[in-house]
Amino acid sequence: MCGIIGYIGNKNAAEIVYGGLKRLEYRGYDSAGAAFRAEGKISVIKKEGKVEKLLPYLAGVRATVGIGHTRWATHGAPSDINAHPHSSGCISVVHNGIIENYAELKNLLISEGVTFLSRTDSEVIAHLINRFYSGDLVAAVAEAVKLLKGSYALMVICERENKIVAARYKSPLIIGFGQGENFCASDEPALAGKCEKISVLEDGDIAEITSDEVTIFNGELQCVVREVSPNLAVSSDLGLGDYPHYMLKEIGEVAGSVEYTLKAFGSVKVKLAAAFSGVTRVVLTGCGTAYHAALIGRRYIEIFAKIPAEAETAGEFRYKNPVLGEGCAVLAISQSGETADTVEAARLAKSSGAKVIAVTNCLRSELTRVADVVVPVAAGPEICVAATKSYTGQVAALYLAALTLAGVEGGGLWEELEKMPALCRETAENIDTSALARKCARSRGTYFLGRDLDYAVALEGSLKLKEVSYVPGEGYPAGELKHGTLALIDKRTVSVFIITDGKLAGKCENAVEQVLSRGGKVAVLTNLQDVKKRLKGLVTVIELPACGRLLSPLLSAVAVQKLAYDAAVILSRDPDKPRNLAKSVTVE
Ligand code: M6R
Repeated sequence: MCGIIGYIGNKNAAEIVYGGLKRLEYRGYDSAGAAFRAEGKISVIKKEGKVEKLLPYLAGVRATVGIGHTRWATHGAPSDINAHPHSSGCISVVHNGIIENYAELKNLLISEGVTFLSRTDSEVIAHLINRFYSGDLVAAVAEAVKLLKGSYALMVICERENKIVAARYKSPLIIGFGQGENFCASDEPALAGKCEKISVLEDGDIAEITSDEVTIFNGELQCVVREVSPNLAVSSDLGLGDYPHYMLKEIGEVAGSVEYTLKAFGSVKVKLAAAFSGVTRVVLTGCGTAYHAALIGRRYIEIFAKIPAEAETAGEFRYKNPVLGEGCAVLAISQSGETADTVEAARLAKSSGAKVIAVTNCLRSELTRVADVVVPVAAGPEICVAATKSYTGQVAALYLAALTLAGVEGGGLWEELEKMPALCRETAENIDTSALARKCARSRGTYFLGRDLDYAVALEGSLKLKEVSYVPGEGYPAGELKHGTLALIDKRTVSVFIITDGKLAGKCENAVEQVLSRGGKVAVLTNLQDVKKRLKGLVTVIELPACGRLLSPLLSAVAVQKLAYDAAVILSRDPDKPRNLAKSVTVE
């Protein structure tokens, strides 16, 4: 959940490490730090707060070797002391992951006379490497990692050796190859524009990186070869352009996400159809927004393929001894492909004999290495912590997967999706949620309500608003309101109904009346003309373009995303970096 970057070459390491950390900041931003090696000495700078806090201290650094870290705190509160790098003797370390046996290791080290400065689990790594160091950094790292339980991506520098040593287990780490310079980072975007070739390290790998050479070893220190592939991250994709925030930019890219996902699906269609052969049951899993996409995908599978489908959050799924096996396909959905719970759920499914299908925006992520088939979500890099365009890409990918499972190879249902990019664009350009956002921002609480697919979008709307504006809220099935939650409704609450299903509209309108009778404020997002006519003047109506009910989530999602964005801006929150969060949750 943290981002790490390393550089060794002949350029200014401070500049490169800082630039990489800025790009990695979406992985965590409660504190940041860097260590540089120059003339046999290491200097460490670390600060609580966002990466830019480091900037004033970097001006004076003259070094060509450096490692950096941007943190999302797990063990130990955000503070200067708990920020990485952590040092011991001549060693400095940055770490992403969680050391589960850190308490035991810490006690051992304390009994040997080691003094700890921080409250982190990561500091044990620095002390362990220092304990094993006797002139060979690679050997010391190899010894130290043998004692670690949990997950780690590490970069280590040492005053006595002009190199970076990197190691990984269950946390992502890549090597970037340059000319007379080499890089190491948590992911490709950190190296956008810096190098053209990369290799992804595998679990247990240890890499020795100098400016001219990279040698990769396995845990027994035998040399191993890892595939070298092009660095797909392009720096121009990562700029903000004229937008004030990535969230707004990325809502504007929802149409492209659906369009490119549709195009990209052609490359996997045959393989997916083969993987689905003999499948009689589907489980969809993911976390947060990806789970909300799973709820929609489940309905597509039931509706098109008419086979049982369930959706479950990955964190629950992996610990409930799920009944899987032959005939079962598990669709693991994740923007990053690195979410620990989702990756572990996929591993569990695979080991239980199920077919595992990854639905992801990151085609070189851990999830893709576990899966039998990868269905691409072609949303492009998503920088804002709140998922927007990746959600609509996931919904489009799941729609296509469900059609494939049902053996529907073309025709009206495919054409419906082909029309959606234009409608998404129209929605993103024209939707005005600012007045409703002001009401939500002033409210004591918000309720997002809907039925069937609209309920799934209601859950996503509620998550989005909470996440970026910190306004409390709940997503609820509209029909359940009267069974308890109605007690919370008063004039200080705002209820946002999503009504796009003609068959269920009347039932939802009953719930609207129930809220109005209790003095609650109500807004309705709808693309149904008769609903609009009946409710206009009674509630705030936000109109969406007309489309079939099955794909309406692609449009109502844009509306709830824009609503959340507007509320965040009204309340002066940073929608791109909400407090306490990180984009990739690579720890449990
Ligand atoms: O990368 P993933 O799709 O696996 O991430 C899952 C969740 O952490 C993520 O969707 C989270 O809920 C978003 N920040 C919500 O906007």
